[in-house]
Amino acid sequence: MAITDIACVKGFIRMCNDGWLQGWHERNGGNLTYRMTEEDVAACRPYFDATPREWVKMGVQADNLAGEYFITTGSGKYFRNVEPDPIHSMGIVEINAAGDSWRIVWGLADGAKPTSEFPSHFMNHSVRKAATGGANRVIYHCHATNVIALTYILPLTDRAFSRALWQSATECPVVFPEGVGVCPWMVPGGADIAMATSEKMKTYQAAIWAQHGLFVSGPDFDTAFGLAHTIEKSAEIYVKVLSMGGGLIRQTIEDDDLRAIARDFGVQLNEDFLD
Ligand code: 13P
Ligand code: ZN
Repeated sequence: MAITDIACVKGFIRMCNDGWLQGWHERNGGNLTYRMTEEDVAACRPYFDATPREWVKMGVQADNLAGEYFITTGSGKYFRNVEPDPIHSMGIVEINAAGDSWRIVWGLADGAKPTSEFPSHFMNHSVRKAATGGANRVIYHCHATNVIALTYILPLTDRAFSRALWQSATECPVVFPEGVGVCPWMVPGGADIAMATSEKMKTYQAAIWAQHGLFVSGPDFDTAFGLAHTIEKSAEIYVKVLSMGGGLIRQTIEDDDLRAIARDFGVQLNEDFLD
């Protein structure tokens, strides 16, 4: 038995590998965090270091995450290496009672640190935990190619992206009926982009970072990965459609069609984005 045999750690590693296989994680691109349950922590605790490392301030704070434990990818670490070399590529951090600092209790060996986007993940966890009554546990950032490509040509509005994605794959309105949020281009890795993203995550399960990538949330690895996969697939279709037709779209899913999908699948579509 090893820590990598525990279900939450196994699931985390599998998701990293799935993202790598999709081509969304060139070099150290992207990051993943998982908010552990009490049972997860109890199962992993026997493998924790004898002495936890120093507390490190995050530059952001959340009362509702005080005392939580997160599995996180490491900063500068490659998703490609998570499965063959977990101890250097990922780790477990504990959050202090003030909800403003982390310390490493397992992994991130030889001086590694949690992802540079930990502040964004942390604030998104805080907002999504509150928005879902505690159900949300996964935050995932990937460099999804076609989503990024669209941020060069579509207006950087929640409405433009939500409509384009809904119209490019019939299942999209069912998977993210509230739409997606869009953040303008910002310097990655700090408190500013963390606050801007978490504002979007109050309304949406997913946020797009212009010229950078995608952030998604979910209650478990399957749902969060499935959301990223659905959004990127839809973006890929839209990119192909625009490329094939030189910008001409002869027919699409009309607004009343979107309403019909929502009605039959029992979801509440965000009417702000419909004409
Ligand atoms: P990290 O290697 O620090 O996780 O950064 C990768 C990334 O995608 C930054 O947005
Ligand atoms: Zn990134």
